[in-house]
Amino acid sequence: MISLAQVRADTPACEHLIHFNNAGCALSPAAVTTAVTNHLRLEQELGGYEAANEAERNIAAFYPELAKLLHCDESEIAFMESATRAWQSALLSLDLQPGDQVLTADNEYASNYLSLLYLSRRHGVELITIPSGDDGLIDPQRIADSITAKTRAVALTHVASQRGDVQAITEVGEIALENGLVFLVDACQSVGQIELNLKQIKCDFLCGTGRKYLRGPRGTGFLYANRETTQSLVPPAIDLHSANWASPSEFEIKAGAIRFESWERNVAGMIGLGKALKYANSLGMESIEARVRLLAESLNRQLQSIDGVEVHERSANLSGIVTLSRVNTEAGTLRENLQTLGVNTSVAKKQNARLDLDSVLDRDVLRASLHYYNSEEEVTRFVDLLAAS
Ligand SMILES: Cc1ncc(COP(=O)(O)O)c(C=O)c1O
Repeated sequence: MISLAQVRADTPACEHLIHFNNAGCALSPAAVTTAVTNHLRLEQELGGYEAANEAERNIAAFYPELAKLLHCDESEIAFMESATRAWQSALLSLDLQPGDQVLTADNEYASNYLSLLYLSRRHGVELITIPSGDDGLIDPQRIADSITAKTRAVALTHVASQRGDVQAITEVGEIALENGLVFLVDACQSVGQIELNLKQIKCDFLCGTGRKYLRGPRGTGFLYANRETTQSLVPPAIDLHSANWASPSEFEIKAGAIRFESWERNVAGMIGLGKALKYANSLGMESIEARVRLLAESLNRQLQSIDGVEVHERSANLSGIVTLSRVNTEAGTLRENLQTLGVNTSVAKKQNARLDLDSVLDRDVLRASLHYYNSEEEVTRFVDLLAAS
């Protein structure tokens, strides 16, 4: 059981802010911010390299904490600067050839879809995009039915940036495995709010970011790379950290997910992300997921009673992300009005969801994204403010 009083006390801004922008960037626990600033101070006092030597154990703590959260091996985890870089590195390591097909869906994250369009234009890779159903869900059977002899990979976003429905990645993973396809999961919006057990989710790659539901610092992310898949894949670029320079003309790529990392990194950020993961592990993903879902259901229910408000999640698979429109008020104006009242939300722009918001709704939508440290009172206050706006 999560102690709401404790997690709110650990999150100082809860005193003056209703933060419903956890899908953008969550509030870090104070221990995370302290770990980051302490390391920056150490760098100032000792020098960057010397500080890193001193903090070796805190830096390395990132790997076992993330492995514990995801139920995988430490050697399958790479520290990355962002989820986008992680996803691109995985995709580019597949060395797709002209005519190879990649299956994806209409909820795919904008930057991922742009990378696929780029591969399609530059290398002749064929992109097959599965539409979601009326309930906002991508039917795994439609993915299975779209596989051909040329299909090499399936890429799916677990929870989209612009829509909170949770997609069936476990079922899709089984389909990918049965058909010998590489399965890439974007778990950017789910990791830290939904339990992800990589012993059950059969994916080859899964990427995430630090700043969202994991409550880590900005400029941090990770790539999970399945041990067996990784052995035969060459990353799109290497350096002296991911490979050994064996002789003047030879190199060996290191074993494991380290092959996707670069030597230089935001060390303070990595320490902070390790702390954030430790915090999440100490609360337990089961408790976190249950509480986020409870709050999201409550928000969803209360929003149904406001005239002129339309909620866009249509499935029963709710996450902490709730998207909505208010009749006669632009999402951007709503967001600004709410911010002046001490409520942080964000706008999912149709420009960044061409296959979804742009073609289905033709408008930007307001995104309220809840985390376990939010309270029922905050949910009710948000609904009241929205009703009065
Ligand atoms: C679903 C999804 N994937 C990927 C990203 C990109 O993450 P990053 O900014 O760490 O590259 C986001 C960010 O909003 C996202 O919502």
